Amino acid sequence: MILVTGGAGFIGGNFVLDWLAQHDEPVINLDKLTYAGNLDTLASLKDDPRHLFVRGDIGDRELIARLLAEHRPRAVINFAAESHVDRSISGPGEFIQTNVVGTFNLLEAVRGYWKELEGEAKQAFRFLHVSTDEVYGTLSADDAPFAETNAYEPNSPYSASKAASDHLVRAWHHTYGLPVLTTNCSNNYGPYHFPEKLIPLVILNAQAGKPLPIYGDGQQVRDWLYVKDHCAAIRRVLEAGRLGETYNVGGWNEKPNLEVVHTICAMLDELRPRADGEHYASQITFVQDRPGHDRRYAIDATKLSRELGWKPAETFDTGIRKTVAWYLDNQDWIDNVTSGAYRDWVATQYGA
Ligand code: NAD
Ligand code: DAU
Repeated sequence: MILVTGGAGFIGGNFVLDWLAQHDEPVINLDKLTYAGNLDTLASLKDDPRHLFVRGDIGDRELIARLLAEHRPRAVINFAAESHVDRSISGPGEFIQTNVVGTFNLLEAVRGYWKELEGEAKQAFRFLHVSTDEVYGTLSADDAPFAETNAYEPNSPYSASKAASDHLVRAWHHTYGLPVLTTNCSNNYGPYHFPEKLIPLVILNAQAGKPLPIYGDGQQVRDWLYVKDHCAAIRRVLEAGRLGETYNVGGWNEKPNLEVVHTICAMLDELRPRADGEHYASQITFVQDRPGHDRRYAIDATKLSRELGWKPAETFDTGIRKTVAWYLDNQDWIDNVTSGAYRDWVATQYGA
């Protein structure tokens, strides 16, 4: 079996669902269930004996050690993190605690377990750390996309905490020989995405008749990847990635934010037109920019395609159509995540 951390979040949840749709290999899913963790995402696995959910913290070394000793997984895949840049600006403490101290404790528990393995079990064991392109900092318009050899230049408390965790993972390989793999991925989108992030926020606000907030001039560029393509990349790296290596994962889909929002508005105009006949784009509102906002991210995923044969299956056009349709079809999931804590965050971040 495998142990997944953060498997009630956006990417981890998609990963667990896809894994069990394709394998019979069981999953232990350890998640703290912060505001971003949602068991509704895993509702279809409620009676599935291949899925064991455990509520807990990656920083709880004793709990992890106990789970490892009891279930003896062949791999640990670490998705658990505080993941939202804006929250890291208003409250960086949790990001240091989970992303840095939590990853350290997880690594130590895993090292203790791996050290005692023998023979084939020790050879085959993997620790896969899921990270972000934001560790490389920001690009100007004519810079080449981020390669694995780019220097780390994180600019936000979030990206600095992820960079620190990547360094710990690297060091645990070089110093202790822990068999690690790291993936650095660009912006994901797709089903079960918590609506604090740009794409789901815009889909929901549009339908609720609320402003669609664009930070600054909206010309910041992100490289969008459909979440299921990211999950496929992680499965492939787990299967065949070279030990100690990092692999960049990206969609070859660079888009300015304003264009992304216009695309979503046009899709909603087609699929669920406004009752008053107006276009959703009329709700676009320019708001104050994010402090230290990175201008452009772009990933060069050549290494992953050359070495491991991975390529994204979705273009932005096909992926965003699936995503908008999913949000229109899953009102129950949306109603559950947009209660209490979510409303408090929106009020704090965007004011009245
Ligand atoms: P998310 O915020 O949706 O989910 C994070 C999950 O981790 C939640 O279920 C939460 O409850 C859990 N968690 C938080 N702290 C924990 C702790 N201390 N112990 C155990 N569980 C804890 O995040 P996501 O978007 O699914 O991102 C998953 C991973 O992928 C993160 O490491 C993130 O840095 C990375 N990543 C995300 C993106 C993206 O576009 N979303 C892109 C590249 C990399
Ligand atoms: O690049 C990978 C990263 O992508 C991940 O590591 C992070 O976990 C993930 O949250 C994401 O970070 P971003 O900051 O790029 O994603 P977000 O959806 O918050 O914002 C996308 C862009 O849209 C960014 O340029 C900021 C802008 N934005 C965002 C929000 C929430 C707006 O203009 N308005 C908004 O209301």
